[in-house]
Amino acid sequence: MPNDSPVLQPVTIGDLHLPNRVVMAPLTRSRSSEAGVPPDFAIDYYAQRADCGLIISEATNISAQARGYAMTPGIFTPEQVEAWQRITRAVHRRDGRMFLQLWHTGRISHPSLHGGALPVAPSALKPKGQAFTNDGMQDHVTPRALETDEILAIVEDYRHAAQCAKDAGFDGVEVHSANNYLLEQFVRDSTNQRTDRYGGSIENRLRFPLEVVKAVTEVWGGGGRVGIRISPATTEPGSTPLDSTVMATYGAYVDALSKVGLLYIHDIEGVTQQTRDVPDDVDFPALRRRFSGAYIANNQYTLELAEQMLAEDKADLFSFGRSYLANPDLVGRLRSGAPLADAPKSYWYGGGSVGYSDWPGMNGQITIER
Ligand SMILES: Cc1cc2nc3c(=O)[nH]c(=O)nc-3n(C[C@H](O)[C@H](O)[C@H](O)COP(=O)(O)O)c2cc1C
Repeated sequence: MPNDSPVLQPVTIGDLHLPNRVVMAPLTRSRSSEAGVPPDFAIDYYAQRADCGLIISEATNISAQARGYAMTPGIFTPEQVEAWQRITRAVHRRDGRMFLQLWHTGRISHPSLHGGALPVAPSALKPKGQAFTNDGMQDHVTPRALETDEILAIVEDYRHAAQCAKDAGFDGVEVHSANNYLLEQFVRDSTNQRTDRYGGSIENRLRFPLEVVKAVTEVWGGGGRVGIRISPATTEPGSTPLDSTVMATYGAYVDALSKVGLLYIHDIEGVTQQTRDVPDDVDFPALRRRFSGAYIANNQYTLELAEQMLAEDKADLFSFGRSYLANPDLVGRLRSGAPLADAPKSYWYGGGSVGYSDWPGMNGQITIER
């Protein structure tokens, strides 16, 4: 029976006409080469999912320094650009749209991924937890605090990566400013204890992320094809709040992003994958109202919850992460009420095409033209 859910109807955001309000959330799958080149079977994986409103790629390193996980892709060498071109072409042949997520992990990294050099961060503060390296999981280390002039160089790395994404045929880019990677490390007062113009006041802590956004929008001819991902309520990589004034910080951030005319903010409502509970003072609808562009809601969404949020005018689009791992035709399944397949965790990170690009659709394998 066809489902006439409003979530599955066409919508226009900026100049992008989308067939539905379902977004494929960025999903790191750790299947790229040591040189950060995505495999050919990633062509099948992404193109199989092209009937959603918008695909957002897995987080993609803007430079060698940005890398914090083994086997993640990059977008800064000609070889990487060519591989991504093959992917975007296949997505476009199936009438899909795809943005690339621009990533710098900062302190969520490990020396073994950098020839022994320390990961970089706003301040020399060791994160909890472990890094995914070529030698398995290893404890995080205390990073090196960036010198002021190095920060300008990283802005230029973002500019270069944004240009590479354009050359690779993406329809736009999403700046990853969530989940306590480098940009969020600057935003939060617990991880940014700098005393130069990039630390201290909210204005100073937002300076670097906003310089990045400015560089990226310059490459893309304005904010119309640039989105940003934020996670105001995250506690990662631990379980305690990262910021003493979340709403003041993120209110100022969203106001500044709104002025730049970004296409969307992509908000992780709660702690990614773990909970939708948020502290009392965190108010996502209030952030949405302050922003001029579209609002993509994420975290533990079902079709029913998306319908409810849309009816209450609390979001425009809805991104689905884990549901996309094993359901290439998620939109079709939501439309027909078909059951969703579940990907075992052993397939999430690392490996080949098995458990990645071989999940069938409801009507059999979705074959992709190369
Ligand atoms: C395997 C896996 C990889 C992920 N990789 C990324 C990533 O590269 N970038 C990102 O911003 N979030 C990443 N996330 C978080 C998801 O985008 C999403 O926020 C999370 O899964 C919650 O949405 P869901 O409840 O629909 O799964 C990842 C999540 C999973 C399960």
